[in-house]
Amino acid sequence: ERRRNLAGNILLLCYFMFIFKYDIQVIYSIPEELSKGSLVGNIAQDLGLDLKRLKTGRARLHIGNSAEYIVLNKERGVLLIKERIDREALCKQTTPCALHFQIILENPIEFYRVTVEITDINDNAPIFKMNSMLFEISESAVRGAKFVLEKAFDSDVGINGLRSYSLNPTDNFVLKLHDHTDGEKEVEMILQKPLDREKQQEISLVLTAVDGGEPQLSGTVQIHVTVLDANDNAPVFKQSMYRASLAENSPKGSLLTTVSAADIDQGSYGLVTYSISSNSDLILDLFEIDETTGEVHLIGEVDYETSKHYQIDIKAKDHGGLTDSCKVILDIIDVNDNNPIIDLMSTTPSIPEDAKFQTVVAVMSVHDTDSDNNGVVKCFLSEKIPFTIENSSKGFYSIVTESNLDRERASEYNITVTCSDEGVPSLSSSVTLTLQISDVNDNAPVFERSSYEAYIVENNTPGLSIFTVKARDADWNQNARVSYILEDSSVNGVPVSTYVSVSADSGVIHAVRSFDYEQIKDFHFRVKAQDGGSPPLSSNVSVKILIQDQNDNAPQVLYPVQTGGSLVAEMVPRSAEVGYLVTKVVAVDVDSGQNAWLSYKLQKATDRALFEVGLQNGEIRTIRQVTDKDAVKQRLTVVVEDNGQPSRSATVNVNVAVADSFPEVLSEFTDFTQDMEYNDNLTFYLVLALAVVSFLFITCLVVIISVKIYRWRQSRILYQSNLPVIPYYPPRYSDTLGTGTLPHVYNYEVCRTTDSSKSDCKFGRAGSQNVLIMDPSSTGTMQRIQSDKSILDEPDSPLEVRLV
Ligand SMILES: *[C@@H]1O[C@H](CO)[C@@H](O)[C@H](O)[C@H]1NC(C)=O
Ligand SMILES: *[C@@H]1O[C@H](CO)[C@@H](O)[C@H](O)[C@H]1NC(C)=O
Repeated sequence: ERRRNLAGNILLLCYFMFIFKYDIQVIYSIPEELSKGSLVGNIAQDLGLDLKRLKTGRARLHIGNSAEYIVLNKERGVLLIKERIDREALCKQTTPCALHFQIILENPIEFYRVTVEITDINDNAPIFKMNSMLFEISESAVRGAKFVLEKAFDSDVGINGLRSYSLNPTDNFVLKLHDHTDGEKEVEMILQKPLDREKQQEISLVLTAVDGGEPQLSGTVQIHVTVLDANDNAPVFKQSMYRASLAENSPKGSLLTTVSAADIDQGSYGLVTYSISSNSDLILDLFEIDETTGEVHLIGEVDYETSKHYQIDIKAKDHGGLTDSCKVILDIIDVNDNNPIIDLMSTTPSIPEDAKFQTVVAVMSVHDTDSDNNGVVKCFLSEKIPFTIENSSKGFYSIVTESNLDRERASEYNITVTCSDEGVPSLSSSVTLTLQISDVNDNAPVFERSSYEAYIVENNTPGLSIFTVKARDADWNQNARVSYILEDSSVNGVPVSTYVSVSADSGVIHAVRSFDYEQIKDFHFRVKAQDGGSPPLSSNVSVKILIQDQNDNAPQVLYPVQTGGSLVAEMVPRSAEVGYLVTKVVAVDVDSGQNAWLSYKLQKATDRALFEVGLQNGEIRTIRQVTDKDAVKQRLTVVVEDNGQPSRSATVNVNVAVADSFPEVLSEFTDFTQDMEYNDNLTFYLVLALAVVSFLFITCLVVIISVKIYRWRQSRILYQSNLPVIPYYPPRYSDTLGTGTLPHVYNYEVCRTTDSSKSDCKFGRAGSQNVLIMDPSSTGTMQRIQSDKSILDEPDSPLEVRLV
């Protein structure tokens, strides 16, 4: 290519060639950068010089003081490149660029001007001085903002010089070239689309400068754009609403939640600070937020019962003043922190022990401010007591009686009501109310014993206290105040009150009279104990008084009867054997037991050797054969003694006639009569006793028959007898041996209750008849007739009893 250029240059050169003898100028045009030895021009030919001339003329180039780029080849007559020529180095930007020199010949001296014009070739690319450009552009830069870029430099000239620029990429910027007055091109980069640091913080661009050469050369430079942040982004909360829950009573400092807002700006514009924007003091006193971390803490006390929810408004702010807000909804979780509250609305201090079932004792309301299970309350009574608690309606309870109350068992109840909720752990409260059970007269007095028996020695002083009955009443106070009352009854037809009296307060039983065992040995009565309740309750007890005997009666001889007038003598035939029963001394002692245990002794006798007296039975028997020499008239004195302490005794005289015939006896016994006188009394008693026995027997017979007939007639009507009791005392003495020839004699006592103050039984009264007939001619013949109103059914019918 260069050669082709060269050929062209040569043509051009030829065109400018003027051949003057002394002023001939040859102009060559060569491109720069020809290699060493390259042909510049055939100067010899162009000057029309002969090669020889060149040699002879010692042709040489006159360069002056400029560098030798070109040499003359004399042999060939051509100019050759000696040094590579860089147009840019030689001429800089000056155009045209030419080398001027002369060819000088000697012999003759000739010179020719040669001008070698150096033409530019595109051997230099545009270059930038710096290899990169740095820009810091705020993202807030507006469209159209201009940024001047460094220009490129191309040392080539002309068409090979710098021609244009291009920028890549062109997302944000476009290039704009300004033609300067001095022909320089001003390069500007214009912001076409706003920057967003948040999208792209660093932008790299490449500015390319191209020249117009062929081939085109280019130079590039890196443009680094750092997008500077602007506070174009507000903080944004990740959630617009946060939910948190916190148990009530949580400690101060508890973390509720952490809110977080992001600000994509950089630096302080992206630095978010948090604050609570709620302006209620309540919220501000309770919560705080960490300015930097967004942790929401509790600083006060939260109580579910006060507030169940809180809304905390939170603001996030960057340092550029942009804000966002969110809210934290805080749910307070209930904790079982409230005990149930028991409110006794009404209580009864006491109820009577006979209160009906389901009697309401107390009413209370119970509530628990906690919620759900923490506020569900159950109440119960803690002890086993006869009360129950009923849930009458929601939150209201009543305590009612459940079973029978008994003040005597428990007079007071401490009713403890415990209410507990169903929280975990459960909380409870309790309240105790004291309930008195008031007394009702529901207990009768109870005697300490089911029956009483007491002894009193006869002949007591009236007014003597015998003993004490005692009854207790389980009730209280007036209902338990026992008074004792002697129940009306009669003893032997006489009101019992004439025997004993009962002290109403103390229950002491006093004897009203002096008792006589021989009249009455025991008696019953009932004592009633009555309390002071209204109505009163009572009970009664049977009391038996036993009278104890004293040896206050001497034995009484019933037989042989001692009378003054009549004469009684026992006959003993002379033929009587040894052991013949002469007679029997019959004596009684109205006392009893030892006091009535009699013994018989012979005190005096006409002939002691003939008779003996049975110690126990009083039988007088012969102890030897009777002889003719024995006196007809025998007299024995027998002592009868009881066994009491001290013992009492009686004596009796017994006349015995030892004879075979009655006249014989009679003559002998005339003097006996007066002895018989004093026996009258005894005989009287004996007869009386016999009469009574007979009378009783017949009476019984009559009564039995009457009753039988009566029942037979009126079988439907019950017979009720109002008769007084007739005590009957069995025989105290009888013929134990049963061998005697004498009729049996019985001793009876009849005691009447009319006047027991006398110690002796009393026989016969006014209007009754006592007859005693003593017939000396017949032994043991007695009659007694007695009538007694108290014994007989019909007081007017006397009864006759005969014993033979
Ligand atoms: C009831 O409580 C009172 C006082 O605490 C006590 O004195 C009394 O003995 C209690 N009564 C019963 C029946 O427990
Ligand atoms: C005495 O008590 C008995 C029961 O112990 C009773 O049957 C009777 O009626 C009572 N008598 C009187 C007079 O109260």
